[in-house]
Amino acid sequence: MSEALILTEIIGDGARRTGLITLNRPKQLNALNDALMDQLGAALLAWDADDAIGCIVITGSERAFAAGADIGAMAGYSYMDAYLGNYITRNWETVRQVRKPVIAAVSGFALGGGCELAMMCDFIIAADNANFGQPEIKLGIIPGAGGTQRLPRAVGKAKAMDMVLTARMMDAAEAERAGLVSRVVPTARLLEEALAAAALICSMGGASVMMAKQCVNRAFESGLADGVSYERQMFHALFATDDQKEGMDAFVNKRKPVFRHR
Ligand code: HXC
Repeated sequence: MSEALILTEIIGDGARRTGLITLNRPKQLNALNDALMDQLGAALLAWDADDAIGCIVITGSERAFAAGADIGAMAGYSYMDAYLGNYITRNWETVRQVRKPVIAAVSGFALGGGCELAMMCDFIIAADNANFGQPEIKLGIIPGAGGTQRLPRAVGKAKAMDMVLTARMMDAAEAERAGLVSRVVPTARLLEEALAAAALICSMGGASVMMAKQCVNRAFESGLADGVSYERQMFHALFATDDQKEGMDAFVNKRKPVFRHR
C-alpha cells in the first residue's frame, strides 16, 4: 500500500456531508510532490462523484498548508522532463475539475504551489497565523500552477507584482484586506469555522450550489486560460536555465544561491 500523503474524513450527519482532506507531509511542511497530488486528485474526483458529499475542505497542518512544490523532487528536472512529463498540467489542476465547492482552510505557510493550490480552491479561509507567498523567483523559476494569473486577479497587479518579483509574504490580515481570503479566524478555530461554512453549503441545493460556483468562476476566469498556458510554457522553459539549477541546488544544500542571470 502506498503511503498516505493525504488523510480523508467525512464530517457531519446531514443528507450531504463534508469531505475533509488533510495534506499529510507535516515534516516537509506539506511540500507537494507528484504522489501527493495524485492522491489528492483521486480523493477529489471520488467525492465529486459521490452524492452524499456536498462540499470539500482541504487543509494542512498548523505550521503549513503547503510550503510549495517539493523542491528536492523537481531540482533535477530538465526542460524535457517538465515538458514531456506534462509537469503540473498532468495532475495539479484536478481541483479545478471538481464541480462541488472546495474550501481551502489555510494555517501557516501557503507558499509557491501551496498558495496556488489554495487559490485554485473556491475560497480561502485563513487562520490568523497564515502567510501567503510566491517565492519561486528565489529559486530561479516563476509560479507554474496559475500563480501569475490568479494572484493579480485576487489582489490586483501592484501587490501581485510585488510578491512575485520580491518573494515577500503577505500575512493573513493583509490577505483579507487585499481580497485573497474570504475571512480570517483564530488559528485554533480554523477547522471549526471552515467545517461550519462547508456544512452551510451542504445544506443548500446541490444543483444551485454547483451552478453558483460555475457562474462565479466564469466571471473570475474569463481570459485566464491563455495566461496560464503561456505561464506554463515559460515555467517549463525555466528548467533549461542555469539559474534554476543554481537556485534549487542552493536550497537543497542550504546555501545562498549565486545567480548568473542566464
Ligand atoms: C521541499 C521543503 C519545502 C519545499 C520546506 N521544506 N519547504 N522541502 N520543498 N517547498 C522542508 C525543508 O527543507 C525542511 O526539511 C523542512 O521542510 C522544514 O523547513 P525549514 O526550512 O527547516 O523550516 P523554516 O526554517 O521554518 O522555514 C520555512 C520556510 C522554508 C520559510 C517555508 O522552508 C522555505 O523557504 N521553504 C521553501 C519555500 C518555497 O520556496 N516554496 C516554493 C517552492 S517552488 P529538513 O529535511 O531540512 O527538515 C514551487 C513551484 C510551484 O512551489 C510551481 C508549480 C507548482
